[in-house]
Amino acid sequence: MDTERQVAGYYTHGSLQQAIFDALRSMGKDPDHLTTTDIMAADEFHLGWRPATAALADDLDLQAGMRVLDVGSGIGGPARFFAEARGCHVTGIDLTDEFVQVATELTRRCGLSKLASFRQGSALDLPFDSGSFNAATLIHVGMNIADKARLFDNVRRVLKSGALFCVYDVMRADEGDLPYPMPWAETAETSFVETPATYRRLLGKAGFKIEREENRRAFVLKLAREMRETAAARGAPPLGIHVLMGPVWHERLANVMATLERGTIAPVEMIARAS
Ligand SMILES: C[S@@+](CC[C@H](N)C(=O)[O-])C[C@H]1O[C@@H](n2cnc3c(N)ncnc32)[C@H](O)[C@@H]1O
Repeated sequence: MDTERQVAGYYTHGSLQQAIFDALRSMGKDPDHLTTTDIMAADEFHLGWRPATAALADDLDLQAGMRVLDVGSGIGGPARFFAEARGCHVTGIDLTDEFVQVATELTRRCGLSKLASFRQGSALDLPFDSGSFNAATLIHVGMNIADKARLFDNVRRVLKSGALFCVYDVMRADEGDLPYPMPWAETAETSFVETPATYRRLLGKAGFKIEREENRRAFVLKLAREMRETAAARGAPPLGIHVLMGPVWHERLANVMATLERGTIAPVEMIARAS
């Protein structure tokens, strides 16, 4: 099986929408009257969750009316945030069909369909005209993509000259084996975690100039500690990113958090400008 099919298969839950709605009902929420706040615990599938998305929206200086591409958009949390909080027109593209369907339905229920839409497709073959977008984001997706040169070439092509591209990926920060399963891969076969130096080199070759780089390890560890303290005091919340991963979530989350604590990996944000 090729990598993309394996990756989409790994992320496919099977009954994700139902699982989210069941969790919402158990919290007294009505899935027919949703707000983005109701679902934000589950729809930001990356380290740093909503606070990291809000920070990168600031770093990209997203403004109303901008056309933004979210590459590997998952179930659409970041796209809905850019639409609602910043008034951007956001297009999400993702390999995993079930995520695209859930993203579309959640967006409809939040009343944001005019600003955010989603389609199935590959980051390595973006189906958009050259120069279509004013900004692009790639949030915890590069770990699934071996050919990052082709990925960055694709993003550069669809961006206007001068536009900003935010990469926020899990990168290798030190030597040492990575344990599996991780939230993004069952085994090392579909995991392509690279160093910031590799990202910098390949972004440069694709025609980007890096303007800012931030290691968000301390930020994420602090948030994770606060979440654990809240869960210990009030009980684990029914809705969280564990819902996206299904019943096997525990080992995947434990592995990524242990590796982050050890310093083998780090969530790194890069802001790069298209030439
Ligand atoms: C860890 S999730 C992050 C989702 C989203 N960016 C977020 O932060 O909530 C990684 C996503 O990347 C998508 N993905 C992985 N490889 C891809 C590719 N080659 N093209 C498009 N999407 C891809 C997966 O389907 C999955 O939805």
